[in-house]
Amino acid sequence: MARVTYVQPDGSARTCTNFEGMAVMHLAVGNLVDGIDALCGGVRQCGTCHVYVDDAWAARVGGPGEDEAAMLEALGDRIEVRPTSRLSCQIHITEELDGLVVHVPDNQPGV
Ligand code: FES
Repeated sequence: MARVTYVQPDGSARTCTNFEGMAVMHLAVGNLVDGIDALCGGVRQCGTCHVYVDDAWAARVGGPGEDEAAMLEALGDRIEVRPTSRLSCQIHITEELDGLVVHVPDNQPGV
C-alpha cells in the first residue's frame, strides 16, 4: 500500500491510498480529487493532470521524461510550469514514494 497526499491551492489536503503501480493521476481520479481531470486518460496529450511535486519529494520522484517534458513545454503558455511540474499520469506509485505529496495547480490547461 502507498499513500499520496494531494494539496489544493487553498491548502486543504486529502490523502489517498492504493497499491503500488498505479499512476498518481489514476489514484486522484478514482478518489475524485479536485483539479485533476485527466481528460486524455493518461497518454500525455492533455496536461489536465499537471501537478507540482512537493519540494521534499522532487528528487525522489525525478524529472519528466523526454515526451512529458515536451508536453509541459508546449503547455507553458497556458499553465505555470515550475521545476517540480509533472504530469501525474506519468508518476507511478512505488514503495519508495509512499507518503508522496503533490500540489494541485490553481489552473489547468483548457483542452
Ligand atoms: S492525463 Fe492527459 S496528460 Fe496526463
